[in-house]
Amino acid sequence: MNTQLPKGRGAISDGKDTNLNEAPTRLITKNAKTLVIYFSRSGNTEYQAKIAQEVLHADSYELIAKNSYATDYDETVNRSNQEQAGSLPELVTDDLPNFEQYDLLLLGSPIWSMTLANPMQKFLEQFGRQLSGKRIAEFTTNAGFGAGNAQQVLKELPPAFATVLNEYTIKDTEIEETNDQFKDWLQETEEK
Ligand SMILES: Cc1cc2nc3c(=O)[nH]c(=O)nc-3n(C[C@H](O)[C@H](O)[C@H](O)COP(=O)(O)O)c2cc1C
Repeated sequence: MNTQLPKGRGAISDGKDTNLNEAPTRLITKNAKTLVIYFSRSGNTEYQAKIAQEVLHADSYELIAKNSYATDYDETVNRSNQEQAGSLPELVTDDLPNFEQYDLLLLGSPIWSMTLANPMQKFLEQFGRQLSGKRIAEFTTNAGFGAGNAQQVLKELPPAFATVLNEYTIKDTEIEETNDQFKDWLQETEEK
């Protein structure tokens, strides 16, 4: 596993995880019962997603916006604010796997404006209905202000009969030193 965390917090993107220069993760098998679906602009959430994929022997699918986010933080914040006030970004999901084989869906997202990042919101808007009957849990990374209403958003999924498990959130600068805590949460969540 590549355990190198990008330098700097998400606020200072290293420019390598905005999908401009990197192929998106598509790790899909025939047998996995857990699917990690994540979005990551600057690599923090992707780091967590890799751990989740390994610990749970899960499949993994990275969400990407059709129009990638800028490496510049302020530019991204501006765009994000506009999208949240208007319409969420279009995603590339042609190769999204069929959810049927999975029992557990782990959604990984940065926190943007105290909620799930726009691409994850878009994913839920577009595909939320297909998650009914699944167990769902989310893990988020943030800059120190917590997970905001991320859990609430999941609980309001249409239709509201997916089972929403506990959430996990971690400050971006504390990710590496809390690997064990995250792994424990993953194990507990799988067993729920
Ligand atoms: C547009 C934008 C909005 C953000 N809003 C918040 C916020 O409301 N609260 C917070 O704690 N962190 C916020 N952050 C910081 C990110 O959540 C944090 O750095 C995260 O780890 C980035 O994840 P990534 O590297 O996977 O993209 C924001 C970052 C961006 C780019």
